[in-house]
Amino acid sequence: MKAYLMIALAAAVASGCAKARVVDAYEEGIEGADDEVGRDSDGPDEAGARSDDSPAGDDDGESRADGDGDGRNSDDARADDDSRARDDGEDPRQDTPDRTYTYYADVKPIIDAKCTTCHFEGGIAPMPLTDYDEVEVWLDLIGHDVRNDIMPPWTADMPMDFFLGDRRLTDNQKDIVLSWVDQGGTAGDPDDAPDPIEPAPRGLERVDLSVPMPEAYEPQIDPDDYRCFVLEWPLDETKFITGLSIEPDKTDIVHHAIVYHVQPEGAEAARARDAEEEGQGYTCFGASGADAAWLQSYEPGGYGQGIPGGLGFEVRPGSVMVLQIHYNTLNGSSADQSRIDFTLEDSVDRVGDVVLFARPTWFAGFMPIPAGEEDVMHFYRGRPVLTANDRRYEIFWVDLHMHALGSRGRIGIIRAGEPNVVEPLLVIPRWDFAWQETYLLSESVILEPGDELYLECHWDNTAANQITVNGEQLPPRDVNWGDGTTDEMCLGNVLAAPL
Ligand code: HEC
Repeated sequence: MKAYLMIALAAAVASGCAKARVVDAYEEGIEGADDEVGRDSDGPDEAGARSDDSPAGDDDGESRADGDGDGRNSDDARADDDSRARDDGEDPRQDTPDRTYTYYADVKPIIDAKCTTCHFEGGIAPMPLTDYDEVEVWLDLIGHDVRNDIMPPWTADMPMDFFLGDRRLTDNQKDIVLSWVDQGGTAGDPDDAPDPIEPAPRGLERVDLSVPMPEAYEPQIDPDDYRCFVLEWPLDETKFITGLSIEPDKTDIVHHAIVYHVQPEGAEAARARDAEEEGQGYTCFGASGADAAWLQSYEPGGYGQGIPGGLGFEVRPGSVMVLQIHYNTLNGSSADQSRIDFTLEDSVDRVGDVVLFARPTWFAGFMPIPAGEEDVMHFYRGRPVLTANDRRYEIFWVDLHMHALGSRGRIGIIRAGEPNVVEPLLVIPRWDFAWQETYLLSESVILEPGDELYLECHWDNTAANQITVNGEQLPPRDVNWGDGTTDEMCLGNVLAAPL
């Protein structure tokens, strides 16, 4: 155990050295694609897993990654898209530098499009922002949060519109809101209001089945209650889910939710877990606690939708759905009975799979995060469940999962023949457990034969970054893999289908 900790500490120091470069790459966003991949400084798990980490043999401690950014055609194209997307619309200030912005003429359409999905009476955000009086009270804080990219919440540092449903303001919208705040935030004339920005279409086009929680549940742990509910799948023939939507009942307390599918073989275990704990469902922080496939998540302001790519998830009779809900009761508490809506088909052209990846040795406790360390990093690269190395796969969404100590992370593809270059699929420079979500790619990405998936997680285990339970901040402790509140995880998943 001692040796194990020594290696872990050495690893933490070594990853500290690598930090500067990795951070640089984060700041460059997707253009930092040619950035360093994890090295075999990753603690004892490396030793056991060296064979799946191909160049791990060169132990010279030198950076293996100084790609020059060449040969990254697909990425360059996306980077160009980015600059176009961010430059959308003209900046009115270029034409009229002395222009005064008003709420009605300039700001309301932006707030209605980008803020009121959460900031409405009864929404998850603490205050509504639906009219001038409501907005004006918060002027300074709005300026602060928009300037510092705190609001709208969006953790992925990828080009605008790389993912569907990007919540961020465009650079132009940000300029308008900030100029307006700096100018004092005047109301202007309601008659100046332009046409509203069309909201994104919400919900499913067709609902074939609604499965509610068996009964209403009132959160019992203040302010954050993480609870899993077991929902019986009511159909007695095999169907394919082609769309699903988690529909929260109480939008002011449902902060986040994930639905997992448990195959009939694992259903009994999920029911047993439910029965173990008093009341409906069971406490589950990091994962469903069952042998389950992640299907979709809900974030405030989010909306369910069709499974992309014409894919469907196969659901056999006897399955159960595990609905994990993070309740936050800062706005008050009440009994919630959320439900899941489904669009179903009898058959589909292609069956999609949500493929989890992580280093197998982590599950066995080889993911040490020593108490007090500021930046501990673990990484994995490989082609895990996608065993057919000679097949092409189409990837439609991507997801990264850590717990409360997570500080940053990323997922990418390492292309065959370019072993030291990570092509980013998801970069999260400031991990926030409360805002983890499923990121749907605007354009699917192909995993070619020989390509690998790459996953990298960082944790801050210092005193300042510990969670608060019942009003008291916990002291740092040695942490390892587990699904408890004070354990950690590093999991990636992608929705993939063979081509
Ligand atoms: C996806 C949901 C969501 C969207 C969209 C959103 N907010 Fe928020 N907002 C929240 C939540 C939740 C909080 C409460 C604090 C938290 O959880 O981070 C909050 C808090 C705030 C606060 C309070 C101060 C603070 O930082 O706690 C301000 C100001 C704010 N939001 C402004 C905005 C503005 C302006 C926009 C649009 C440009 C926006 N928000 C979009 C969810 C959202």
